[in-house]
Amino acid sequence: MSKRYAVVLAAGQGTRMKSKLYKVLHPVCGKPMVQHVVDQVKMLHIDEIVTIIGHGAELVKSQLGEQSSFALQAEQLGTAHAVMQAKEMLDRKDGVTIVVCGDTPLIKAETMEAIFKHHEETGAKATILTALADEPTGYGRIIRNEDGLVAKIVEHKDASDEERKINEINTGTYCFDNQALFAALSNVSNDNVQGEYYLPDVVEILKAQGEVVSAFQTAEFEETLGVNDRVALSEAERILKKRINEGHMRNGVTIIDPMNTYIGADVQIGQDTIVYPGTYLMGQTVIGADCEIGPNTEVQDCEIGNETIIRQSVAHDSQIGSNVNIGPFAHIRPKSNIHDEVKIGNFVEIKKSQFGKGSKASHLSYIGDAEVGQDVNIGCGTITVNYDGKNKFLTKIEDGTFIGCNSNLVAPVTIGRGAYVAAGSTITEDVPGEALSIARARQVNKENYVTKMNLKK
Ligand code: UD1
Ligand code: CA
Repeated sequence: MSKRYAVVLAAGQGTRMKSKLYKVLHPVCGKPMVQHVVDQVKMLHIDEIVTIIGHGAELVKSQLGEQSSFALQAEQLGTAHAVMQAKEMLDRKDGVTIVVCGDTPLIKAETMEAIFKHHEETGAKATILTALADEPTGYGRIIRNEDGLVAKIVEHKDASDEERKINEINTGTYCFDNQALFAALSNVSNDNVQGEYYLPDVVEILKAQGEVVSAFQTAEFEETLGVNDRVALSEAERILKKRINEGHMRNGVTIIDPMNTYIGADVQIGQDTIVYPGTYLMGQTVIGADCEIGPNTEVQDCEIGNETIIRQSVAHDSQIGSNVNIGPFAHIRPKSNIHDEVKIGNFVEIKKSQFGKGSKASHLSYIGDAEVGQDVNIGCGTITVNYDGKNKFLTKIEDGTFIGCNSNLVAPVTIGRGAYVAAGSTITEDVPGEALSIARARQVNKENYVTKMNLKK
């Protein structure tokens, strides 16, 4: 097999988005468009991926990191000019180069693989991925000769009324013989309505040289949707959401209302898990089997075991075990590790804490920077006082302890194994194991106080 290279075009500002965020960084189903494209490209056994960056270069670079090499297009003079920036990196290499736009987030690896195959089989110097669009406005049109072969591509803005009636469009994905591509690029002019160097003009140049240019038409127009404005962005969101949700349902996940369930492209969910409406599952979240998630729950970058229930709650960047019961209205903040069979009830906030197997915080608590052992019962309203205004400190709550309601545990502090803390205590010193600690003022009853003070009318 010949060597394969990829060029991802991601330097444009995306004026039509009317946004301070650069176009290719706009998320679709929680992931930036350019990341969707690169993730699919990565599945193709490519020898080198070069992303063309310009607007928001640093941000695109930090998004993609090691996954790509980068070439800077300092001024955005058009898509041909963009590809030219990869010349130093790819120019003399033998092989096939796929060019993809960073604003076509729905393109699938299998479609790119098909165009690669088609290109390799036909021995063409260029192969264009085309599609039939119901509404082709804005896209480049494929102009074919009488013999059915591609003659050229005309941009919407440059097209005649007659040409605008053509509904076969350029999807913006192409395969090129690498050397032929870079040779042809230097002949592209900017003599057009937009004054830009158009990559599709390479087609006409190669044709004039007597080379074979081929078109590969995909039946999936939806997959090639180019996002130029926020209307198209919402369209992409709708299509990808449907694709993702259907994928999970076919894998045995119940989604009660797929229209109102938002799952990121990389989320994994086990069989017989039920996802209720209004739920957002994002990032690198992995959910086990037989769980119940939602309604109205947000989970980002969490690993969740089996048979766990999370209702109307928020959980970020944490580990949550099996048979755990969370919510309603709980907040699991980053770096928490909730072990199996734990219960985190209503209005409980957990931050950067370990929560041992079988432990419970059922109501109204803040547990931050804590190590909670197994089988601990944290009474209603317990607070770890972890912050002195400057630094954060650790609270250790050992196995089998019972923390009475409305206690303050002023860190750093350790509650020893099996100890009891009386309700309403403010604990500032370590409590030995098996002890009962009472840290509050004694109750004083002033008999007949009201009568003496004449308070009663
Ligand atoms: C382009 C194609 C059009 C095709 C459509 C498919 C050209 C001239 N037109 O049009 O035929 O139907 O895609 O979606 O290629 N970019 C750069 N540098 C530049 C200009 C653009 O990196 O100087 C990048 C953009 O960031 C974007 C991609 O190239 O990711 C496409 O550019 P865009 O301006 O969106 O092209 P379209 O007008 O959509
Ligand atoms: Ca576009």
